[in-house]
Amino acid sequence: MTNATTRPASDYPPGGDAFRHRHLTGIAQLTPWEISYILDAAEQWVELNRSGAAKHDDRLAGLTIINAFFENSTRTLLSFEIAGKRLGADVVNMHAAQSSVKKGETLIDTAMTLNAMRADAIVIRHSASGAVQLIADKVDCPVLNAGDGRHEHPTQALLDALTIRRRLGKVEGLTIAICGDVLHSRVARSNILALTLLGNEVRVIAPATLTPPAMERMHVATFTDMDEGLKDADVVMMLRLQNERMDGAYLPSAREYHALYGLTPQRLEKAKPDAIVMHPGPMNRGVEIDSSIADDPARSTITEQVEMGVAVRMACLDILTRRQRGVPGWN
Ligand code: CP
Repeated sequence: MTNATTRPASDYPPGGDAFRHRHLTGIAQLTPWEISYILDAAEQWVELNRSGAAKHDDRLAGLTIINAFFENSTRTLLSFEIAGKRLGADVVNMHAAQSSVKKGETLIDTAMTLNAMRADAIVIRHSASGAVQLIADKVDCPVLNAGDGRHEHPTQALLDALTIRRRLGKVEGLTIAICGDVLHSRVARSNILALTLLGNEVRVIAPATLTPPAMERMHVATFTDMDEGLKDADVVMMLRLQNERMDGAYLPSAREYHALYGLTPQRLEKAKPDAIVMHPGPMNRGVEIDSSIADDPARSTITEQVEMGVAVRMACLDILTRRQRGVPGWN
């Protein structure tokens, strides 16, 4: 599929100059055109996944990908596994709950163990911000960040950008409202970075207790009032309350939170009539979003985001392993 912001391949530098990074640790390391490069590469996988032909592409055959997840996941873990397998790789999942982490092994020792097994790529999710960079500095293969603490979740932001681009025909010049527990959200942080880099106006709507400091330095306007912040938005991105990262009382109750910040059909009317509603999942229905919106295919992109996740992760695994696969121009 082509659309308004798909660039012709000739616009990118040739070969490995199009994406010079060894790892994907965060959106903060990327330029706007590197983001577009990944999104454009993902488009082919969307179409092939839909046609069922992707499983016949074995460009990663002979490679071993380790998914090392130190935190729970449904979407990210499964989509990285499906992405690797669709490209012919051997994919091994390491769940921290069943690993020697439970016996007191340090993160660095676990990383060195994975490295000694000669993985060709390691995908990591960890509760500590910076843990992925720590591992990337120690191992010999590309490392992909599947979410580290409150820091970054780059593939989520990429799949969100692809979803917006496909739904609205562009991912630039839009007004995008990110609503909810922004303080604890790596998804919000990666999306703010990606969407501002791509030339959108990003707003954050959250209670003062869940608004990160220094948002203006990230070129983001902050609102504590939903009706005000949603005004004329093209995209409404809802976030769940990350209770597992809260170390105190940030809110009176889930019920009061819903009354002030839950996305209801009445509130959504403040956004543009054709505004789309996004949620990275997992969602808490009746808290941050009403089911009538989440399940409305005309407004909600939630299942499409999951679908784009597989395509974006296929693109990332392909691009990041090109050097070790000896793809011409990628030395
Ligand atoms: N969006 C997201 O990261 O979901 P999971 O926690 O299920 O991977």
